[in-house]
Amino acid sequence: MNNQWWKRAVVYQIYPQSFKDSDGDGIGDLPGIIEKLDYLAELGIDVLWICPIFRSPMVDNGYDVADYRSVDPMFGSDRDLDELIAAAKDRGIKIVLDLVLNHCSDQHEWFRRALNDPDSEEAGYFYFRRTEDGRPPNNWRSNFGGSAWARTDDGRWYLHTFAREQPDLNWENPELRRELYDMINWWLDKGVGGFRIDAITFIKKDLSFASGDAENGALYPIENFQSYPGIGEFLVEMKRETFAKYDAVTVAEAPGVSPELFAEYAGPDGHFSMIFDFNWDHMKGVSVKGDPESVAAWRSRIFESVLHTQEHGWSAIFLENHDQARCPDKFLDKDKHGRDGMACLATTYMLLRGTPFIYQGQELGMTNGMRSGIGEFQDVSALNQWEEGLAQGRSEEEMLRELNNYGRDNARSPFQWNAETHAGFTTGTPWMPVHPAYREVNAKKLQADGSSILAYYKELIAFRKSEEWSDVLAFGSFEPALTEYASLIAYRRTFEGRRLLVLNNYGGELELPLEGREVVFDSFAGRGSSGAAEEMLKMPPYRSVVLAETE
Ligand code: GLC
Repeated sequence: MNNQWWKRAVVYQIYPQSFKDSDGDGIGDLPGIIEKLDYLAELGIDVLWICPIFRSPMVDNGYDVADYRSVDPMFGSDRDLDELIAAAKDRGIKIVLDLVLNHCSDQHEWFRRALNDPDSEEAGYFYFRRTEDGRPPNNWRSNFGGSAWARTDDGRWYLHTFAREQPDLNWENPELRRELYDMINWWLDKGVGGFRIDAITFIKKDLSFASGDAENGALYPIENFQSYPGIGEFLVEMKRETFAKYDAVTVAEAPGVSPELFAEYAGPDGHFSMIFDFNWDHMKGVSVKGDPESVAAWRSRIFESVLHTQEHGWSAIFLENHDQARCPDKFLDKDKHGRDGMACLATTYMLLRGTPFIYQGQELGMTNGMRSGIGEFQDVSALNQWEEGLAQGRSEEEMLRELNNYGRDNARSPFQWNAETHAGFTTGTPWMPVHPAYREVNAKKLQADGSSILAYYKELIAFRKSEEWSDVLAFGSFEPALTEYASLIAYRRTFEGRRLLVLNNYGGELELPLEGREVVFDSFAGRGSSGAAEEMLKMPPYRSVVLAETE
């Protein structure tokens, strides 16, 4: 059970539009990623998950796939991708692609054929319905706002869980499933290391198509979409026909998987290698801002989740992704956005049991941007939410605040490489403006500073993967510790009699007895306060320390 390579891995997520532009068109691309592979190798990561790079009209930035087997010219050529896979391999890095299987683009040839000919085979690849009264078949709402049904010119309705340009694929159709499996195997044969699998819990629908509870009419009736009974048959078949034949890693975006279902999804024989743990990150309002109660509340979410997953399987742990706000804004008070606060967050999650994911720019401490009007947002979901919010009578001010705090554009501004024009991201005009903080917060500057958050991420990754401690940190059991201190997030990791105690202080200064424990990692190293030779360990606010204990 402990020989799966991905249990020791650290994954880095790339949002290709915003990582590095090599040709001056203002959009990041594959040659840009190749150019920066050494930066990534130096960071110490093992796997690169690249958000969709397939042909797409980019209504949802590539999550609307028009051709699953070719690279969108915006990102480069098919050959660039081959080159990236090879160049990454030379550095011991595996490439993980993003598989979007719940829906495709309305520009995909399957959907175009289905539109042109209601009797075509491809019409069976989607959910088309006709209604007598010219109204949508039911009251289901799309994830991005509005009805989940869109009307075709010939009066049919088709289902879309996300944007109307993302028609849902009908997984009940065996030919469609065969097409998808062939495509997956084709990529695996090309040498990709595996897949991040998008929105997978949506693929099974409630085939009664009954309207949701009227009271929830304005809400997205999740029960009709997420992890609907019967989904397991599709997932078992998909694994058998594809991933199981390769040593591929699969990480599923699987919102709505209840604790009872976790093992089925991410257990030793589960559908996937792991699923993202959204339990302690996704919910708005969970943070370590200010008071001890909020720290304790966040801590119990984390602990509950890790205690459960270690019984039943494996999870992907993260603080950020391309759909969320930046972690300093999500979790820390504004005045704690400095290096120590961010280092404390990083230590808290990266030494838990699970495979850590780092989102591009997280290692620089990139923060949310402030947008002053809806015109500055690009994300399709932000635009839809804005419309819907206003239609429900919410004020522009309130909607703007919400989108600034939680909107997906926050994570999507260009990577800050240096202090030059457009942060060195592009020589052209960036598709999305660079965050104004780039002169201070950029890779070049932070690389030159041994006490920067970037330097800390490198140390932390190296510690996690060190010969001495990687077994304990990858495979060790997890156990909450010192919960009597409200603002301390502390836990033990134990493996074959070797034990680490991880301490992260989100509150005022504490003193803890060292009792013969040895400091093996310290976010304040070099500040003369390690306490290693003393009896008491001083824990000022936002210090993280790892102690080796003898059992
Ligand atoms: C997932 C992706 C998100 C995308 C959605 C629809 O949630 O992470 O970016 O918009 O699926 O594909």
